[in-house]
Formats: sequence, structure tokens, C-alpha cells
Amino acid sequence: MVGLVADFAGTFSRLSKSASCSEWVCYTISVKAPQDPPQEVELQPVTEQMIISLQTHAESNENQLKSGLRFWQNGMHQAYIWMEGKEPLCIQWLLTSKDNEKLRGLPGWAGMYPPIDDEVGQVENLYAFKAARGRGVATIFEKALFCEAKKLGLSRLITHVHQGNEATHKWARKLRWQRCGTITLFGLDIRKLRGHPIYIHSKQNLRGDPVFTDRFSASDK
Ligand SMILES: CC(C)(COP(=O)(O)OP(=O)(O)OC[C@H]1O[C@@H](n2cnc3c(N)ncnc32)[C@H](O)[C@@H]1OP(=O)(O)O)[C@@H](O)C(=O)NCCC(=O)NCCS
Repeated sequence: MVGLVADFAGTFSRLSKSASCSEWVCYTISVKAPQDPPQEVELQPVTEQMIISLQTHAESNENQLKSGLRFWQNGMHQAYIWMEGKEPLCIQWLLTSKDNEKLRGLPGWAGMYPPIDDEVGQVENLYAFKAARGRGVATIFEKALFCEAKKLGLSRLITHVHQGNEATHKWARKLRWQRCGTITLFGLDIRKLRGHPIYIHSKQNLRGDPVFTDRFSASDK
């Protein structure tokens, strides 16, 4: 099935100069038995006040932060932040099955988010602020988030990382996230199809064998 998606992607790109195709790698990790929370971090739930201040932060236009702020605007209010005094170090959203309805209503990119199962959390829009990078902040943050997820009764987390984001793939491998599939986005910039991207979700078992493929369109309701 994965080969079929690749063939489709090739044909699709040849068909039209107006076609676009992007891919994300999906990862999963069990949080049933996370290690003790790292001593050096205390995660805080993100508040409305923090969001107001992040909206005017110098990095508010960076992709993942902007996308996280959009989650908030769309009603997804479970996010965690690591603050050092008044300075934010790292932030990430934690979505659960309670967010399924809101995810379905996301304008344009709902197809990225199939319904989340009970006991599963989806962590998205990890963002380490620039001054904090390169000293293990996102790694420590995530270990603390695994503990928070377990406290919430979740047994497993999932996430996805854009194929070209090599730094985050390395970060994921270091934390022992396991690859469990891909999401391929097809878009056609032609009348009628504009604004109706198609997302193909290919799942694989943890040995890497393909399991099955689902299609979600941003316009599915
Ligand atoms: C990716 C990101 C979260 C990493 O944050 P960080 O605090 O600097 O990461 P860490 O210091 O914990 O790094 C952990 C590992 O990730 C990898 N890594 C992190 N930054 C890297 C970089 N710029 N280049 C290559 N590998 C990198 C390394 O393997 C590193 O381990 P090492 O230091 O032992 O080599 C941060 O760069 C970021 O916020 N980027 C922009 C937003 C983004 O891409 N978010 C991910 C969305 S899916």
C-alpha cells in the first residue's frame, strides 16, 4: 500500500504543474511506564494570559508556534509550557479524543487529524524557543510531557513530523519514538479542487510493514 501511495504521488505530480505533494512521518510511543519526571523542569498548563503574550512574541510567526496558536483559536486549549522566569523555553499541544469534534472542524487541514482513540494523546507543534535550543530543552520537556500524559490516564502518544524536518526526526529517534506510518498531502491548485486537499494516511505496524491506508479530506465532515 505504501508503494501504491508513492506511485500515486508520482503520477499526481506529473499530471499537473499545479499539483503539490508533502509527506509527514507518524511516530508513536508508549507512556505506560515513563521514567521519573526530569528534576529540572516543571511544565505549566498554558493559560489564556500566556497565549496573549505569545501572540506578540518575537517568534510568533514561526511555523509551529503559529500553528499552535491557531489550535488555541480553534478551541484546543490543552498545551504545556516550560517557563524560565518570564521567558518561555518550550511549548507543545496535547490533543485527546475530547478534541475530535474540534479537529474535524479545522479549516483546510482537518484531514491531517483522524479521530484520536481514547487513551491516546496526540502531541503537536513542539516549539523550542530559539534562545533555548541545542541544550536538551525539547528532550527534557518531552520526558516531562510523557509523565503528564500518563497522569491524564493516556497509555500512548502519537505525533507527526514533516519529512524534511531532520532535526526533529533526530530528536524523535533520541527519545525512542517509533515510526508507525505516513501522511501524504495532495493538493491541486485548480478551480473546484482548490481548498480541498486530500490526505492519505498509511499505517504500518511497529516492524515497519504496511497495515492499511485511509483517506481523509479536509472537507470531510
Ligand atoms: C526541533 C526542536 C524542537 C529541537 O529543540 P532542542 O531543544 O534544540 O532539541 P534538543 O537539544 O533536545 O535536541 C535533541 C536531539 O535532537 C536533534 N537535534 C536538535 N536540533 C538539531 C539540529 N538543529 N540539527 C540536527 N539535529 C538536531 C539532535 O539529535 C539532538 O541530540 P544531540 O544534542 O545529542 O545531538 C527545535 O529546533 C525547534 O523548536 N524547531 C522548530 C520547530 C519544529 O520544527 N518543531 C517540531 C515540529 S514537528
